[in-house]
Amino acid sequence: MKVAIVTVSDSCVAGTRIDQSGPQLQNLVTSSTKFQIENAVEISLVIDDVDEITKVLRKLKNSGMDVIITTGGTGFAKRDVTPEATLNVINRRCSGLEIAIHTHSLKSTPMAALSRSICGIADETLIINLPGSVKAVKECWEVIEPVLKHAVDLLK
Ligand code: MTE
Repeated sequence: MKVAIVTVSDSCVAGTRIDQSGPQLQNLVTSSTKFQIENAVEISLVIDDVDEITKVLRKLKNSGMDVIITTGGTGFAKRDVTPEATLNVINRRCSGLEIAIHTHSLKSTPMAALSRSICGIADETLIINLPGSVKAVKECWEVIEPVLKHAVDLLK
C-alpha cells in the first residue's frame, strides 16, 4: 500500500510550531501489522490555503498513492479549508467512513463535532481528513486502521 501524509498548518510551514501529528501518523501507518507499506511514507507540509492544498493532493493522487491522509485544517476557523480542497479533488464521498470517524471521536470529546473532516475517493486514491491534534490522530486511526486494506483493495 502506498500511503502519503499531508500536514496542513500555517504555523508548521512558518516554523513557529513543530509538526507532531504528521510524524505520529507516519509512525502509526508504518508500524501497522494490518497491511504492508510499499514505499516510504512521506509527509508533505502545506499552508492553510485551498489552492495550495488542492495542488498537493492532486500531485500525490497523480503519483499513484493508494491513500492520502491529511491532518489539520478541518475546524471552523476562516483558514480551515482542508475539506474544501479535498472536495476539489475527490469524485466520490465516503460518508460511512466520515460517520465512523465522527461517531468514534464523539466518544472521546464533544469537540469532535467541530471537525468538518471528510473522506472521499479520487479515482483510485482514498483521501481521509483528520483533525490536527496528536490526540485526534490517534483516536481516528483506531477507526481507519482496521478498514484501510479492504478499502484500498476495493478501489483496484
Ligand atoms: N476528534 C478527536 N477524535 N479528538 C479530538 O481531540 N478535537 C476536535 C475536533 N475533532 C478532536 C477531534 C477539535 S477541538 C477541533 S477544533 C476540530 O477537531 C478541528 O480540528 P482541526 O482544525 O485541527 O482540524
